[in-house]
Amino acid sequence: MQNLDSILKNAANEINEAVDMDKLNDIKVRFLGKKGELTSVLKSMKDIAPEDRPKMGQMVNEIRNQIQESLDKKKADFEAKILEKKLESETIDVTLPGKVQRVGHLHPNTKTLRELEDIFVGMGYKVVEGPEIEFDYYNFEALNIPADHPAKDEQDTFYITKDILLRTQTSSVQVHEMEKGELPIRMISPGRVFRSDEVDATHSPTFHQVEGLVIDKGITFADLKGTLQEFARRLFGEDTKVKFRPHHFQFTEPSAEMDVSCFKCKGKGCRFCKGEGWIEILGCGVVHPHVLEMSGIDPEVYTGFAFGVGLERISLFKYEIDDMRLLYENDTRFLKQF
Ligand code: DAH
Repeated sequence: MQNLDSILKNAANEINEAVDMDKLNDIKVRFLGKKGELTSVLKSMKDIAPEDRPKMGQMVNEIRNQIQESLDKKKADFEAKILEKKLESETIDVTLPGKVQRVGHLHPNTKTLRELEDIFVGMGYKVVEGPEIEFDYYNFEALNIPADHPAKDEQDTFYITKDILLRTQTSSVQVHEMEKGELPIRMISPGRVFRSDEVDATHSPTFHQVEGLVIDKGITFADLKGTLQEFARRLFGEDTKVKFRPHHFQFTEPSAEMDVSCFKCKGKGCRFCKGEGWIEILGCGVVHPHVLEMSGIDPEVYTGFAFGVGLERISLFKYEIDDMRLLYENDTRFLKQF
């Protein structure tokens, strides 16, 4: 029992003087471990009178508990100290100036598109999307541009197979929409188009168009003019004038290109409109009867008009940007101006 007493005292002293966790572990092994001092006391029980053994066992257990308790307490002390140190070293200086988070905004092209969509949705159009990878049939054939037609040269593109290509125009979506057989149609379809063009200030192998298609009974060129004039006014301002120049597209007859009066110089001629006073923004026309027929619409009952706007053209014009490449370079010094 004297022995037990001195084990307890020694353990208490050593725990008290331990300087770190490692030291505590050593102490634990030495006193409580398999080969530790208390265990060896238990092993020597056989030398004790049998009637004293239970009492002895009980005392060993009590001492074991006491040592364990002191170890736990000391361990908790160490942990508290470590945490305190950590908190001290990691204090935040709230008086330091903050880091400003830079917030992005919509790309000029996206802004133009949203504005355009708002205008047409306001007139009762729905917005639909079509595939960028397209069959030759939808991009050319069904729009009255048969194989070997020279118009295909003007819109050379990237072919995946002989019959599958990256669409050169959103006009392909007209065909998908007509094939659904739900009439009347009043839709616009924005999207990316592709052409095998060299990059320069006004060309890019990929750009965006917004297609428009209206088909109903009794639609005439007058509807086309009224609609597109209203569109131009809403986009560029009330006093915008429009001009339709005869043109040729395979899928419309008659066809036209629409110019708007330059909103910078009000038609007088400036750097922006290259002295012309007018800027071309879209192609349009009355849907060719054969195009209706090919998609299963009776041209004797239904007529329609269509148009195709170059989205970048409008962005460049609206935001007075003189090089299309800037729109694709993702240079924030440029983009943050808009
Ligand atoms: N798809 C033509 C182009 O890329 C633009 C166009 C012209 C679309 C006349 C039309 C249209 O819907 O009627 O040049």
